[in-house]
Amino acid sequence: MAFKPVKVALIGSGNISYTYLNTLTKGWDIIEMVGCSDLIPEKSKARAELFGIRQMTTEEILNDPEIELVINTTEIHNHSKVIKMILEAGKHCYSEKALGCTFEEAQANVELAASKGLRLGAAPDIYLGAAYQTARKLIDDGWIGKPVTAQAWCIRGYGAPGRPTMPPEDQPAGRKGTTINFDMGGYYVNALVTLLGPVNRCAGFAQVFPHHTYTNVKNPLFGQPIRTEGGASTLMGTLEFESGVYGNIVLSADGFGPEIPRVEIFGTKGTLTIPDPNSFGGNGLDIYMTRIGNDGVFKIPFTHAFGDTDPAIPPKSGKHEPCHNSWRGLAVVDMAYAIRQGRPHRSSPDLALHTVELMYNIENNTAEGKFHTMVSRPARPAPLPDGYFGPLNVMEAALATYEP
Ligand SMILES: NC(=O)c1ccc[n+]([C@@H]2O[C@H](COP(=O)([O-])OP(=O)(O)OC[C@H]3O[C@@H](n4cnc5c(N)ncnc54)[C@H](O)[C@@H]3O)[C@@H](O)[C@H]2O)c1
Repeated sequence: MAFKPVKVALIGSGNISYTYLNTLTKGWDIIEMVGCSDLIPEKSKARAELFGIRQMTTEEILNDPEIELVINTTEIHNHSKVIKMILEAGKHCYSEKALGCTFEEAQANVELAASKGLRLGAAPDIYLGAAYQTARKLIDDGWIGKPVTAQAWCIRGYGAPGRPTMPPEDQPAGRKGTTINFDMGGYYVNALVTLLGPVNRCAGFAQVFPHHTYTNVKNPLFGQPIRTEGGASTLMGTLEFESGVYGNIVLSADGFGPEIPRVEIFGTKGTLTIPDPNSFGGNGLDIYMTRIGNDGVFKIPFTHAFGDTDPAIPPKSGKHEPCHNSWRGLAVVDMAYAIRQGRPHRSSPDLALHTVELMYNIENNTAEGKFHTMVSRPARPAPLPDGYFGPLNVMEAALATYEP
Protein backbone atom coordinates (compact mmCIF):
# COMPACT_ATOMS: atom_id res chain seq x y z
CA MET A 1 0.00 0.00 0.00
CA ALA A 2 1.32 3.46 -0.86
CA PHE A 3 1.55 5.79 2.10
CA LYS A 4 1.70 9.57 2.21
CA PRO A 5 5.40 10.44 2.68
CA VAL A 6 6.44 11.72 6.10
CA LYS A 7 7.99 15.19 5.97
CA VAL A 8 11.29 15.20 7.84
CA ALA A 9 13.74 17.96 8.85
CA LEU A 10 17.10 17.92 10.61
CA ILE A 11 18.51 20.18 13.33
CA GLY A 12 22.32 20.35 13.60
CA SER A 13 24.03 20.46 10.20
CA GLY A 14 27.50 19.44 11.39
CA ASN A 15 29.69 16.47 10.54
CA ILE A 16 27.28 13.58 10.95
CA SER A 17 24.38 15.35 9.24
CA TYR A 18 26.11 14.41 5.98
CA THR A 19 25.44 10.71 6.32
CA TYR A 20 21.82 11.19 7.46
CA LEU A 21 21.03 13.51 4.57
CA ASN A 22 22.89 11.26 2.17
CA THR A 23 20.73 8.32 3.26
CA LEU A 24 17.44 10.15 3.52
CA THR A 25 17.59 11.93 0.16
CA LYS A 26 18.21 8.69 -1.75
CA GLY A 27 14.57 8.58 -2.89
CA TRP A 28 12.60 6.60 -0.28
CA ASP A 29 8.86 6.53 -0.99
CA ILE A 30 8.04 7.09 2.69
CA ILE A 31 10.38 10.07 3.33
CA GLU A 32 10.22 13.63 2.10
CA MET A 33 13.35 15.34 3.36
CA VAL A 34 12.34 18.99 3.66
CA GLY A 35 15.15 21.01 5.21
CA CYS A 36 17.90 21.45 7.77
CA SER A 37 19.01 24.08 10.28
CA ASP A 38 22.06 25.01 12.30
CA LEU A 39 23.03 27.73 14.76
CA ILE A 40 25.73 28.54 12.21
CA PRO A 41 23.77 29.37 9.02
CA GLU A 42 26.72 28.66 6.71
CA LYS A 43 26.61 25.02 7.80
CA SER A 44 22.90 24.51 7.08
CA LYS A 45 23.29 26.43 3.80
CA ALA A 46 26.07 24.10 2.68
CA ARG A 47 24.11 20.96 3.56
CA ALA A 48 20.90 22.29 2.01
CA GLU A 49 22.66 23.10 -1.26
CA LEU A 50 24.47 19.76 -1.33
CA PHE A 51 21.31 17.71 -0.83
CA GLY A 52 18.75 19.89 -2.60
CA ILE A 53 16.68 20.65 0.47
CA ARG A 54 15.66 23.92 2.19
CA GLN A 55 17.93 25.83 4.50
CA MET A 56 15.72 26.59 7.47
CA THR A 57 16.04 28.04 10.95
CA THR A 58 15.30 25.77 13.89
CA GLU A 59 12.23 27.92 14.63
CA GLU A 60 10.95 27.45 11.07
CA ILE A 61 11.32 23.68 11.44
CA LEU A 62 9.55 23.60 14.78
CA ASN A 63 6.72 25.87 13.59
CA ASP A 64 6.11 24.15 10.25
CA PRO A 65 2.85 22.22 10.69
CA GLU A 66 3.69 19.93 7.76
CA ILE A 67 6.93 18.60 9.27
CA GLU A 68 6.10 15.52 11.32
CA LEU A 69 9.51 14.10 12.26
CA VAL A 70 12.68 15.94 13.25
CA ILE A 71 16.19 14.50 13.47
CA ASN A 72 18.51 15.87 16.15
CA THR A 73 22.17 15.76 15.12
CA THR A 74 23.44 18.40 17.52
CA GLU A 75 26.36 17.71 19.86
CA ILE A 76 25.76 15.17 22.59
CA HIS A 77 25.54 17.74 25.42
CA ASN A 78 22.72 19.52 23.53
CA HIS A 79 20.65 16.41 22.88
CA SER A 80 18.24 16.58 25.83
CA LYS A 81 17.50 20.26 25.30
CA VAL A 82 16.89 19.90 21.55
CA ILE A 83 14.85 16.68 21.90
CA LYS A 84 12.62 18.49 24.42
CA MET A 85 12.16 21.40 22.00
CA ILE A 86 11.17 19.03 19.20
CA LEU A 87 8.69 17.10 21.35
CA GLU A 88 7.20 20.29 22.78
CA ALA A 89 6.62 21.45 19.22
CA GLY A 90 4.48 18.32 18.77
CA LYS A 91 6.87 16.49 16.44
CA HIS A 92 8.25 12.97 16.46
CA CYS A 93 11.98 12.90 17.18
CA TYR A 94 14.91 10.72 16.19
CA SER A 95 18.11 11.81 17.90
CA GLU A 96 21.76 11.02 17.55
CA LYS A 97 23.09 9.09 20.52
CA ALA A 98 23.04 9.38 23.41
CA LEU A 99 19.49 10.16 24.47
CA GLY A 100 20.87 12.20 27.37
CA CYS A 101 23.93 12.75 29.49
CA THR A 102 22.20 11.31 32.58
CA PHE A 103 19.52 8.68 33.06
CA GLU A 104 17.18 11.26 34.59
CA GLU A 105 17.30 13.67 31.67
CA ALA A 106 16.89 10.85 29.13
CA GLN A 107 13.97 9.40 31.08
CA ALA A 108 12.29 12.82 31.32
CA ASN A 109 12.19 13.03 27.51
CA VAL A 110 10.94 9.45 27.19
CA GLU A 111 8.08 10.37 29.54
CA LEU A 112 7.42 13.62 27.67
CA ALA A 113 7.16 11.76 24.35
CA ALA A 114 4.80 9.18 25.88
CA SER A 115 2.60 11.86 27.42
CA LYS A 116 2.24 13.53 24.02
CA GLY A 117 1.79 10.32 22.03
CA LEU A 118 4.93 11.10 20.01
CA ARG A 119 7.61 8.78 18.67
CA LEU A 120 11.09 9.05 20.15
CA GLY A 121 14.14 7.04 19.20
CA ALA A 122 17.90 7.38 19.12
CA ALA A 123 20.93 6.25 17.18
CA PRO A 124 22.79 4.03 16.57
CA ASP A 125 20.72 2.11 14.04
CA ILE A 126 23.64 -0.02 12.84
CA TYR A 127 21.88 -3.07 14.26
CA LEU A 128 19.55 -2.79 11.22
CA GLY A 129 22.52 -3.39 8.92
CA ALA A 130 23.50 -6.58 7.11
CA ALA A 131 26.02 -7.78 9.72
CA TYR A 132 23.83 -7.69 12.83
CA GLN A 133 20.63 -8.80 11.10
CA THR A 134 22.55 -11.80 9.72
CA ALA A 135 23.98 -12.58 13.16
CA ARG A 136 20.53 -12.34 14.67
CA LYS A 137 19.09 -14.75 12.10
CA LEU A 138 21.87 -17.23 12.83
CA ILE A 139 21.10 -17.08 16.55
CA ASP A 140 17.32 -17.16 16.12
CA ASP A 141 17.60 -20.10 13.72
CA GLY A 142 19.56 -22.03 16.34
CA TRP A 143 22.96 -22.27 14.66
CA ILE A 144 24.89 -21.70 17.90
CA GLY A 145 22.38 -23.47 20.15
CA LYS A 146 21.38 -21.61 23.28
CA PRO A 147 23.46 -18.45 23.82
CA VAL A 148 25.36 -18.69 27.12
CA THR A 149 27.83 -15.80 27.26
CA ALA A 150 28.60 -12.68 25.26
CA GLN A 151 31.45 -10.24 25.09
CA ALA A 152 31.75 -6.85 23.48
CA TRP A 153 34.67 -4.51 23.43
CA CYS A 154 35.72 -1.23 21.96
CA ILE A 155 39.21 0.08 22.59
CA ARG A 156 39.83 3.56 21.24
CA GLY A 157 42.59 6.10 21.61
CA TYR A 158 40.74 9.29 22.52
CA GLY A 159 42.69 10.55 25.44
CA ALA A 160 46.36 11.03 25.02
CA PRO A 161 46.68 12.52 21.52
CA GLY A 162 43.94 15.09 21.97
CA ARG A 163 42.72 16.88 18.88
CA PRO A 164 44.65 19.96 17.84
CA THR A 165 41.64 22.06 16.96
CA MET A 166 39.30 21.13 19.78
CA PRO A 167 38.69 23.63 22.58
CA PRO A 168 39.57 22.20 26.00
CA GLU A 169 35.96 22.00 27.17
CA ASP A 170 35.14 19.74 24.21
CA GLN A 171 38.12 17.45 24.57
CA PRO A 172 37.00 13.90 25.37
CA ALA A 173 36.50 13.38 29.08
CA GLY A 174 35.95 17.12 29.54
CA ARG A 175 32.20 17.01 30.00
CA LYS A 176 29.88 14.70 31.91
CA GLY A 177 27.90 12.42 29.61
CA THR A 178 30.25 12.81 26.65
CA THR A 179 32.87 10.22 27.55
CA ILE A 180 33.56 6.90 25.80
CA ASN A 181 30.66 5.11 27.48
CA PHE A 182 28.09 7.64 26.23
CA ASP A 183 29.81 8.08 22.88
CA MET A 184 30.27 4.40 22.03
CA GLY A 185 28.12 2.38 24.45
CA GLY A 186 25.00 2.58 22.29
CA TYR A 187 26.56 0.71 19.38
CA TYR A 188 27.29 -2.27 21.60
CA VAL A 189 24.14 -2.17 23.72
CA ASN A 190 21.85 -1.94 20.67
CA ALA A 191 23.74 -4.80 19.05
CA LEU A 192 23.56 -6.97 22.16
CA VAL A 193 19.85 -6.25 22.77
CA THR A 194 19.14 -7.10 19.12
CA LEU A 195 20.88 -10.44 19.52
CA LEU A 196 20.04 -11.36 23.10
CA GLY A 197 17.30 -9.13 24.51
CA PRO A 198 17.53 -6.67 27.41
CA VAL A 199 19.88 -6.62 30.37
CA ASN A 200 18.42 -7.42 33.77
CA ARG A 201 21.29 -6.39 36.09
CA CYS A 202 24.67 -4.78 35.70
CA ALA A 203 27.76 -4.00 37.74
CA GLY A 204 31.19 -2.86 36.73
CA PHE A 205 34.55 -1.26 37.10
CA ALA A 206 35.39 2.24 35.90
CA GLN A 207 38.40 4.49 36.25
CA VAL A 208 40.12 7.51 34.83
CA PHE A 209 43.44 6.21 33.64
CA PRO A 210 46.28 8.17 35.22
CA HIS A 211 48.39 8.87 32.10
CA HIS A 212 46.23 11.71 30.87
CA THR A 213 48.40 14.42 29.38
CA TYR A 214 48.29 15.61 25.78
CA THR A 215 50.92 13.81 23.74
CA ASN A 216 50.18 15.40 20.37
CA VAL A 217 52.83 18.06 19.78
CA LYS A 218 50.45 19.86 17.44
CA ASN A 219 47.94 20.29 20.23
CA PRO A 220 48.26 23.70 21.91
CA LEU A 221 47.80 21.92 25.22
CA PHE A 222 50.72 19.54 24.59
CA GLY A 223 52.14 18.22 27.88
CA GLN A 224 49.29 19.57 29.98
CA PRO A 225 46.84 17.38 31.89
CA ILE A 226 43.65 16.42 30.07
CA ARG A 227 40.42 17.32 31.84
CA THR A 228 38.97 14.20 33.37
CA GLU A 229 35.98 15.43 35.37
CA GLY A 230 33.68 14.14 32.61
CA GLY A 231 34.07 10.63 33.94
CA ALA A 232 35.80 7.32 33.48
CA SER A 233 38.04 6.70 30.50
CA THR A 234 38.03 2.90 30.83
CA LEU A 235 35.06 0.83 31.94
CA MET A 236 34.12 -2.80 32.16
CA GLY A 237 30.52 -3.79 32.74
CA THR A 238 29.25 -7.17 33.84
CA LEU A 239 25.86 -7.91 32.38
CA GLU A 240 23.17 -10.38 33.33
CA PHE A 241 20.63 -10.57 30.51
CA GLU A 242 16.97 -11.26 31.19
CA SER A 243 17.40 -14.43 29.09
CA GLY A 244 20.00 -15.73 31.54
CA VAL A 245 22.98 -15.02 29.27
CA TYR A 246 26.01 -13.51 31.04
CA GLY A 247 28.03 -10.89 29.22
CA ASN A 248 30.62 -8.21 29.54
CA ILE A 249 31.28 -4.95 27.80
CA VAL A 250 34.66 -3.20 27.76
CA LEU A 251 34.90 0.41 26.61
CA SER A 252 38.19 2.24 26.77
CA ALA A 253 39.42 5.58 25.48
CA ASP A 254 42.92 4.76 26.73
CA GLY A 255 44.17 2.68 23.82
CA PHE A 256 46.81 3.99 21.47
CA GLY A 257 44.63 4.63 18.47
CA PRO A 258 43.31 2.00 16.09
CA GLU A 259 40.05 0.67 17.32
CA ILE A 260 39.51 -3.00 18.17
CA PRO A 261 35.74 -3.41 17.98
CA ARG A 262 34.14 -6.79 18.29
CA VAL A 263 31.20 -8.75 19.63
CA GLU A 264 31.29 -12.47 20.31
CA ILE A 265 28.42 -14.72 21.30
CA PHE A 266 29.12 -18.16 22.72
CA GLY A 267 26.36 -20.75 22.58
CA THR A 268 25.91 -24.39 23.54
CA LYS A 269 26.55 -25.48 19.94
CA GLY A 270 28.65 -22.75 18.40
CA THR A 271 30.38 -19.38 18.58
CA LEU A 272 29.78 -16.26 16.52
CA THR A 273 32.34 -13.51 15.97
CA ILE A 274 30.63 -10.42 14.65
CA PRO A 275 32.41 -7.32 13.33
CA ASP A 276 32.20 -3.69 14.38
CA PRO A 277 28.70 -2.71 15.54
CA ASN A 278 29.59 0.79 14.31
CA SER A 279 29.49 -0.42 10.72
CA PHE A 280 26.47 -1.69 8.75
CA GLY A 281 28.41 -4.25 6.77
CA GLY A 282 31.35 -4.88 9.07
CA ASN A 283 33.59 -2.38 7.30
CA GLY A 284 35.24 -5.10 5.26
CA LEU A 285 35.19 -7.66 8.06
CA ASP A 286 32.95 -10.69 8.16
CA ILE A 287 30.94 -12.85 10.50
CA TYR A 288 32.68 -16.06 11.51
CA MET A 289 31.12 -19.12 13.09
CA THR A 290 32.56 -22.17 14.77
CA ARG A 291 30.16 -25.05 15.25
CA ILE A 292 30.09 -28.12 17.43
CA GLY A 293 31.53 -31.17 15.67
CA ASN A 294 33.52 -29.16 13.16
CA ASP A 295 36.93 -27.69 13.92
CA GLY A 296 36.83 -25.03 11.22
CA VAL A 297 36.09 -21.33 11.55
CA PHE A 298 33.61 -20.48 8.81
CA LYS A 299 32.93 -17.18 7.12
CA ILE A 300 29.19 -16.57 6.83
CA PRO A 301 27.72 -14.59 3.91
CA PHE A 302 25.37 -11.76 4.81
CA THR A 303 21.75 -12.84 4.53
CA HIS A 304 20.36 -9.30 4.72
CA ALA A 305 20.50 -6.04 2.77
CA PHE A 306 22.07 -2.80 4.01
CA GLY A 307 25.75 -3.69 4.09
CA ASP A 308 28.34 -0.93 3.80
CA THR A 309 27.68 1.25 0.80
CA ASP A 310 30.43 1.23 -1.79
CA PRO A 311 33.57 2.80 -0.27
CA ALA A 312 34.80 3.54 -3.79
CA ILE A 313 32.02 6.08 -4.30
CA PRO A 314 33.39 9.50 -3.37
CA PRO A 315 31.23 11.56 -1.02
CA LYS A 316 29.18 14.14 -2.85
CA SER A 317 31.00 17.06 -1.28
CA GLY A 318 34.28 15.88 -2.77
CA LYS A 319 35.91 15.60 0.65
CA HIS A 320 35.79 12.85 3.20
CA GLU A 321 32.73 13.13 5.43
CA PRO A 322 32.33 11.11 8.64
CA CYS A 323 30.53 7.82 8.12
CA HIS A 324 29.91 8.55 4.44
CA ASN A 325 29.99 4.83 3.75
CA SER A 326 26.92 4.07 5.84
CA TRP A 327 23.14 3.84 6.05
CA ARG A 328 22.69 5.94 9.18
CA GLY A 329 19.08 7.09 9.16
CA LEU A 330 17.49 3.69 8.41
CA ALA A 331 15.72 3.91 11.77
CA VAL A 332 14.14 7.17 10.57
CA VAL A 333 12.73 5.32 7.55
CA ASP A 334 11.46 2.61 9.90
CA MET A 335 9.94 5.26 12.20
CA ALA A 336 8.17 6.87 9.23
CA TYR A 337 6.63 3.51 8.29
CA ALA A 338 5.71 2.91 11.94
CA ILE A 339 3.85 6.24 12.02
CA ARG A 340 1.87 5.41 8.88
CA GLN A 341 1.33 1.74 9.73
CA GLY A 342 0.41 2.42 13.37
CA ARG A 343 2.91 -0.09 14.71
CA PRO A 344 5.94 0.23 17.07
CA HIS A 345 9.15 1.66 15.64
CA ARG A 346 12.21 -0.51 15.95
CA SER A 347 14.54 2.03 17.65
CA SER A 348 12.22 2.41 20.64
CA PRO A 349 12.58 4.97 23.42
CA ASP A 350 13.21 2.13 25.85
CA LEU A 351 16.10 0.88 23.72
CA ALA A 352 17.64 4.35 23.71
CA LEU A 353 17.15 4.65 27.47
CA HIS A 354 18.70 1.22 28.06
CA THR A 355 22.14 2.40 26.92
CA VAL A 356 22.08 5.53 29.03
CA GLU A 357 20.85 3.60 32.08
CA LEU A 358 23.41 0.84 31.62
CA MET A 359 26.40 3.07 30.97
CA TYR A 360 25.50 5.51 33.71
CA ASN A 361 25.10 2.75 36.28
CA ILE A 362 28.19 0.78 35.31
CA GLU A 363 30.16 3.94 35.94
CA ASN A 364 28.33 5.32 38.93
CA ASN A 365 27.70 2.15 40.89
CA THR A 366 31.33 1.13 40.61
CA ALA A 367 32.34 3.27 43.56
CA GLU A 368 29.79 1.58 45.78
CA GLY A 369 30.36 -1.91 44.36
CA LYS A 370 26.62 -2.40 43.79
CA PHE A 371 24.57 -4.28 41.22
CA HIS A 372 21.98 -2.18 39.45
CA THR A 373 18.63 -3.70 38.43
CA MET A 374 17.60 -2.14 35.14
CA VAL A 375 14.40 -0.12 34.94
CA SER A 376 14.27 0.04 31.13
CA ARG A 377 13.40 -3.32 29.50
CA PRO A 378 13.34 -2.83 25.74
CA ALA A 379 11.89 -5.55 23.57
CA ARG A 380 14.28 -6.88 20.95
CA PRO A 381 13.68 -4.65 17.93
CA ALA A 382 11.68 -6.60 15.34
CA PRO A 383 14.07 -8.22 12.84
CA LEU A 384 14.24 -7.22 9.19
CA PRO A 385 13.31 -9.97 6.74
CA ASP A 386 16.25 -11.66 5.02
CA GLY A 387 16.90 -11.10 1.33
CA TYR A 388 15.60 -7.85 -0.16
CA PHE A 389 18.87 -7.22 -1.97
CA GLY A 390 18.53 -4.91 -4.92
CA PRO A 391 17.63 -1.33 -5.73
CA LEU A 392 16.36 1.07 -3.09
CA ASN A 393 12.66 0.29 -3.54
CA VAL A 394 13.37 -3.40 -2.88
CA MET A 395 15.39 -2.62 0.24
CA GLU A 396 12.70 -0.16 1.37
CA ALA A 397 10.15 -2.97 1.30
CA ALA A 398 12.23 -4.74 3.99
CA LEU A 399 11.88 -1.72 6.30
CA ALA A 400 8.14 -1.61 5.63
CA THR A 401 7.84 -5.22 6.83
CA TYR A 402 7.18 -5.68 10.52
CA GLU A 403 6.84 -9.04 12.19
CA PRO A 404 7.88 -8.93 15.86
N1 LIG B 1 31.21 13.02 13.77
C1 LIG B 1 31.06 11.70 13.75
O1 LIG B 1 31.85 10.96 13.14
C2 LIG B 1 29.89 11.07 14.44
C3 LIG B 1 29.63 9.72 14.21
C4 LIG B 1 28.53 9.13 14.79
C5 LIG B 1 27.74 9.87 15.63
N2 LIG B 1 28.01 11.18 15.90
C6 LIG B 1 27.15 11.92 16.84
O2 LIG B 1 26.44 12.93 16.12
C7 LIG B 1 26.23 14.05 16.98
C8 LIG B 1 26.76 15.27 16.29
O3 LIG B 1 28.14 15.09 16.05
P1 LIG B 1 28.89 15.95 14.95
O4 LIG B 1 30.26 15.41 14.87
O5 LIG B 1 28.07 16.06 13.74
O6 LIG B 1 28.92 17.38 15.70
P2 LIG B 1 29.15 18.81 15.03
O7 LIG B 1 29.66 19.68 16.12
O8 LIG B 1 29.91 18.69 13.75
O9 LIG B 1 27.65 19.27 14.63
C9 LIG B 1 26.69 19.64 15.57
C10 LIG B 1 25.99 20.87 15.03
O10 LIG B 1 24.81 21.13 15.79
C11 LIG B 1 24.64 22.54 15.78
N3 LIG B 1 23.67 22.90 16.82
C12 LIG B 1 23.81 22.79 18.17
N4 LIG B 1 22.68 23.22 18.78
C13 LIG B 1 21.82 23.60 17.81
C14 LIG B 1 20.49 24.14 17.81
N5 LIG B 1 19.84 24.38 18.96
N6 LIG B 1 19.90 24.44 16.62
C15 LIG B 1 20.58 24.22 15.45
N7 LIG B 1 21.83 23.71 15.39
C16 LIG B 1 22.44 23.40 16.56
C17 LIG B 1 26.03 23.08 15.97
O11 LIG B 1 26.14 24.42 15.57
C18 LIG B 1 26.84 22.12 15.10
O12 LIG B 1 27.02 22.62 13.78
C19 LIG B 1 26.91 13.71 18.31
O13 LIG B 1 25.97 13.17 19.18
C20 LIG B 1 27.92 12.64 17.93
O14 LIG B 1 28.19 11.76 19.00
C21 LIG B 1 29.07 11.80 15.30
